[in-house]
Amino acid sequence: MVLENSKIIIDIDTCTKCKACADECNYYYFESDNLSFREEMEEYCIECGKCVAVCPVNAIRLKSHKDKTLRGIPSKNDLPSFDSLVNLFITRRSRRQFKDKLVPKEFIEKILEFAAKYSPTGHNQENVHFTVVQDKETLKKLSEECTHQVSNLVKTFENPQGIKTLEASFPPAMIKKIEEVLPSFKRNLKRIKSGMEVWRWNTEIIVIHTPKDALTPIENCTLAACHIMLAAETLGLGTCSLGYITSFFNEFRPVGKIIKLPLKHIAGYTLAIGYPKARYYRIPARKPIKVKWL
Ligand SMILES: Cc1cc2nc3c(=O)[nH]c(=O)nc-3n(C[C@H](O)[C@H](O)[C@H](O)COP(=O)(O)O)c2cc1C
Repeated sequence: MVLENSKIIIDIDTCTKCKACADECNYYYFESDNLSFREEMEEYCIECGKCVAVCPVNAIRLKSHKDKTLRGIPSKNDLPSFDSLVNLFITRRSRRQFKDKLVPKEFIEKILEFAAKYSPTGHNQENVHFTVVQDKETLKKLSEECTHQVSNLVKTFENPQGIKTLEASFPPAMIKKIEEVLPSFKRNLKRIKSGMEVWRWNTEIIVIHTPKDALTPIENCTLAACHIMLAAETLGLGTCSLGYITSFFNEFRPVGKIIKLPLKHIAGYTLAIGYPKARYYRIPARKPIKVKWL
């Protein structure tokens, strides 16, 4: 016999009525005295699966998740110690020089499937998308289009008539923002002229994007990026956050079009990924941590 609603199915014959699920659920989805759903709470269920996790006899399943066998919680011995985790944190650095060696597809798949998939999302929306760009032609096109768009923007700002036209179409806050980044755009154009690839450091990229109407779009993408950056280190890979290219995907449609970024999506984070060229020997010091205890 089963008890079910649109989101959850409970095997009543297996259930021992221990009430662990009812105690764990933030939305009091289960009545704790007898096992039944509170119907009025159904819409609040975010399918976080805490009820599944806490059930000692594996009697609960989320309908939206197709996996029949669920992984057990790893034993404490299988978790990294605080010190080994710290070693991972301090080893990760932004890499900007990469070997001309493609990252195996299995590595990227492994990182996305086992690291990125488990990053948290606001309201458990699980709405983060990944576009992996490994194709050399596409990467080249991407860099060229970024440079083209930035050159045009710089030219427009160098021309008083161009600024007037922009002022007529864009809010002052946006114009001010562009003016602030203009010097760095000019510096980057100079570096490009000298032969450098500055938007993606001449390596492949992972674009992390999500529907614009997600509840916490940028946070979700950033957290997924964090998981990816750390997981990549454990496979001998290096990464670099790419803030410029992320904004270009959103601000310049021809750039977004190259990676087929859906119109309803916002790029929240982009990572360069590859095999780093240099070996590092030490961890440079950081500024003291700024913390307030209340
Ligand atoms: C949101 C964000 C955007 C960034 N954008 C770029 C970028 O476009 N290009 C780049 O080379 N580095 C970029 N970085 C890397 C930072 O410069 C780098 O994280 C910082 O210098 C600290 O160094 P570390 O990452 O090695 O610890 C970005 C970092 C963050 C967090």
